[in-house]
Amino acid sequence: MKILAINGSPRKNKNTATLLNKALEGAASKGAETEIVHLYNQNYKGCISCFSCKLKDGKNYGKCALKDDLAPILEKAANADAIILGSPIYLSSITGVMRSFLERLVFPYLSYTPDHSSLFPRKTQTGFIYTMNVSRKRMQDSGYEHEFKFTEMYMTKIFGSFESLFVNDTYQFDDYSKYVATLFDETEKAKVRKTQFPKDCENAFDMGVRFATQTK
Ligand SMILES: Cc1cc2nc3c(=O)[nH]c(=O)nc-3n(C[C@H](O)[C@H](O)[C@H](O)COP(=O)(O)O)c2cc1C
Repeated sequence: MKILAINGSPRKNKNTATLLNKALEGAASKGAETEIVHLYNQNYKGCISCFSCKLKDGKNYGKCALKDDLAPILEKAANADAIILGSPIYLSSITGVMRSFLERLVFPYLSYTPDHSSLFPRKTQTGFIYTMNVSRKRMQDSGYEHEFKFTEMYMTKIFGSFESLFVNDTYQFDDYSKYVATLFDETEKAKVRKTQFPKDCENAFDMGVRFATQTK
């Protein structure tokens, strides 16, 4: 059983990556083989609208034909038993690299038929770990969830199973005193980091356990 995590943060050991690694630890504790891919290490672009993936009788029908650093990663995703995506929120959305990755992961499997049926050949567990500065309430009140719903809809349609983990109020800097960041209450942030983040890590670990056990 192979579980693949995809990190859409440029930081390889901060909030998003920590949570993804916790999820993989959970999966590994149940015997899964795990791997994390850092998207910022890869050289690629989003969908270029070549439509090879939609070409009648085309050799790339239902597949992304672009040959770049993402090609082998999309292949890994196609063969994984579960896929866990993670991204920080940048300007109220997932990061650009994660967005480009999703275009390349999802669009080839989305058939241009009236029912938009999935061309992905089997059911695969997928999950998304979102990390962000805003509180859960602000996330709910400020329209962030609108976009999350679309990601959920596409991932469920293609892979048959999807769950989200929202991690709010993340600790962004190693030392808040060095930055102009009066928007944030550092004491409050440190408190959330100490009390809530370990629980978020547990939830990520549990996601990994769940994926590994449900996949068996
Ligand atoms: C360019 C940029 C834009 C950001 N925009 C938002 C935002 O719109 N809403 C939010 O809640 N947090 C925002 N953040 C904060 C990050 O989402 C948050 O710190 C996240 O947990 C960072 O993840 P990382 O530690 O894995 O890099 C932004 C951070 C950066 C660098």
